[in-house]
Amino acid sequence: MLNIGSYDERIKNFDWNIAEKELDYHPGDIINIGWYCSDRICLMGKADKPGLLWEGSTGVEKRYTYNDIRLNSNTIAQFLLDLGIKPEDRVCLFMDKIPELYIGFLGILKMGAIAQPLFSAFGDDSLFIRLDNAQTTAIITQKKHLPKVRKIIDKMPYMKHIIIVDADPGKPLANREVAFDMAKAEKIETFDFHPTTAESPSVLHYTSGTTGQPKGVKHVHYSLISQYLTSKWVLDLRDDDIYWCTADPGWVTGTSYGIIGAFSNGVTQCVLDAGFSADNWYRFIEKYRISMWYSAPTAIRSLMKAGEEVIKKYDLSSLRHLASVGEPLNPEAVIWSERVFGKPFLDTYWQTETGSIMISNYPGMKIKPGSMGKPFPGITATVIHPETFEPFNESGKIGLIAIKPGWPAMMRTYWKNEETYQKKFQNGWYLPGDRSSIDNEGYFWFVGRDDDVINTGGHLVSPFEVESALLEHPAVAESAVVAKPDFVNMEVVKAFVTLKPGFTASKDLDLEIMNFVRKKLSPLAMPQEIEFIDSLPKTRSGKIMRRILHAKEWGEEIGDTSTLEND
Ligand code: PRX
Repeated sequence: MLNIGSYDERIKNFDWNIAEKELDYHPGDIINIGWYCSDRICLMGKADKPGLLWEGSTGVEKRYTYNDIRLNSNTIAQFLLDLGIKPEDRVCLFMDKIPELYIGFLGILKMGAIAQPLFSAFGDDSLFIRLDNAQTTAIITQKKHLPKVRKIIDKMPYMKHIIIVDADPGKPLANREVAFDMAKAEKIETFDFHPTTAESPSVLHYTSGTTGQPKGVKHVHYSLISQYLTSKWVLDLRDDDIYWCTADPGWVTGTSYGIIGAFSNGVTQCVLDAGFSADNWYRFIEKYRISMWYSAPTAIRSLMKAGEEVIKKYDLSSLRHLASVGEPLNPEAVIWSERVFGKPFLDTYWQTETGSIMISNYPGMKIKPGSMGKPFPGITATVIHPETFEPFNESGKIGLIAIKPGWPAMMRTYWKNEETYQKKFQNGWYLPGDRSSIDNEGYFWFVGRDDDVINTGGHLVSPFEVESALLEHPAVAESAVVAKPDFVNMEVVKAFVTLKPGFTASKDLDLEIMNFVRKKLSPLAMPQEIEFIDSLPKTRSGKIMRRILHAKEWGEEIGDTSTLEND
C-alpha cells in the first residue's frame, strides 16, 4: 500500500492539516524541528531503532539509534548554549558528511539558533561571502577545513567561536577556537529545547543567482510540515525503509530530505561520506539493503556511463523506490533505471527557496519519462506568459513556472535582502526562475532556467561570482562565464577571458587560472575550460553579452545582435 494512496484522490480536498494532525501539531503550538526529528521519535517507541548508519571513506562505520541522536543533539545544543550562543544567532556547519553534521544540525535547532550549512568544498572566498552576509556567530568544522577558516577569521569580528569536532587533544588552539568531541562529551539526558514556533527561523541556505552575491534563503520551523509529508508521500518513506539520500547537507536536498524529512518520519537512513564511484555506490546499497534511494541526474548519468557489468556484481534487490532531483532527468535515464534496477527514477522538482518538493512524479501514478510530473497536493502550480504573467489557456505553451505562495516550507525572505525577495513575485505568483510547458494531462515538462545561472551536476553556480573571482587574477583583464554542455554534469562552467597587456595565453596560465578559481570558490565553480580571446562581445553601453557566447557553446541561433558594440 502506497503512502500517498492515489494522487487523484489526494489532490481533492487536500489540507496541510493532514500533516499537522499526524505530527500532533496545532496552530500556535511550539514546533521545533530538532525535537521532532529525535525526541518525538523516541517517545513514539523507536528510541532503539537505528536512525543513522554512517560509513566513511576508509570504510569505518558508525551507528546511531534515535536515542543516540537525541542525546548527542541535546549535548551539542547545551554546548552551544554554554558558549553564550543565543536563539536566532547563525551557527554555520562547515563539515564533510560526518555524523556531527547531521546531529549538530538538530542540536543548533534545538537551542533556537539558525543552522547555516555550507558545502565543505567551498574555498575561503565562497565561505567568507556567506558568513559575512549572515554575520555568523559560530562555525562548527573539522580540522581539515580549519586553514580556510583561519585565513578569513581576522575579517570576521562577529565570528566568536570556531568549534572543531576532531581537534587533536593537547594541541594548542588559536584565539576563538574551541574543541568539541561529540563521542567523548558527557551526554545531556534532558534538554529544554527553545520554544520555537511556526515562524521562528530555522535554516539559512545560500543559493546563487545571476547577478549579485549569493542570497541567504531563510526558512522557518513550520517547514517541517511540508518536508514531513512530501517525504512520506513522494519518497514513500515507511517504517521499515532503509533510506539513502546522496545529497550533501551543504545544499538544501541534504537538509530537507537528508535530515528533516528522514528523521521526522523515523526511518533508518544511511550516509556514505566518500567520493563517487559506481562500484562503491552499488556495494553500499547491497551492504545496507537500501530500499529508498534519492539521488540526482548527474549521479545517475555517471552510473550509466560506468556500464551494466558492474551492476551484475551486486545484489540490489533491496531497492524498492527511486527518486531524483536537481536537474532535468533525461528520459534515457528513467528508461535505463527501469531496465537495470527494475524501477524508474521518479523525477522531483523544487529548489532551495521552495524548501520542499513542488512538482513530482508519484508512486502509483503514470510516469512519462522526461516529465517532472504534477504539483504536490496543496501546491497550485502553472506556467505563465513571461510578459503578461497570466496562465496560458492552452496546453503545450512554454512559459515561466509559477506557484501560488503559502505552502509551509516556502522561504520567508532572502537574508537582509527583502527587495530581491519581492522581485520573485509577479501577479500573485512565486516565480522560481524556470521555464516549462504543461501537457494536456497536466504533466510539467522542464525547458530551462530563465536566467544565466549554471546548473552543474545539480549545483547552481553564479556566472557573476566566477567572473568576479577571475578578475582578481593578475593576468585577467575581462571575463565572461557561461554554461557549456556536458554529458554527465549537464552543464559545466566555461570562461572566456581577455588578458592584460604583458600576459600571453598558455596551457600553464590556463591551469593556473582554473586552480585560482577552485581555491577561492569551489571545485564546482572552477571553469572546466578557459578560452582566451581578444575581445568580448559587448553592447554599445559596454555590457558583456553572455547570451552570444552561450548560444555559440550550445550551437543555438545567436538572435538579435542589434545592440552589439562591434557590429
Ligand atoms: O532550475 C531548477 C533546477 O535546480 C534549481 C534549484 O536549484 P537549488 O536551489 O540548488 O535546489 C536543488 C535541489 C532542490 C531549479 O530552479 N532543478 C531542480 N530540480 C529539477 C531542476 N531542473 C529540472 N528538473 C528537476 N527535477
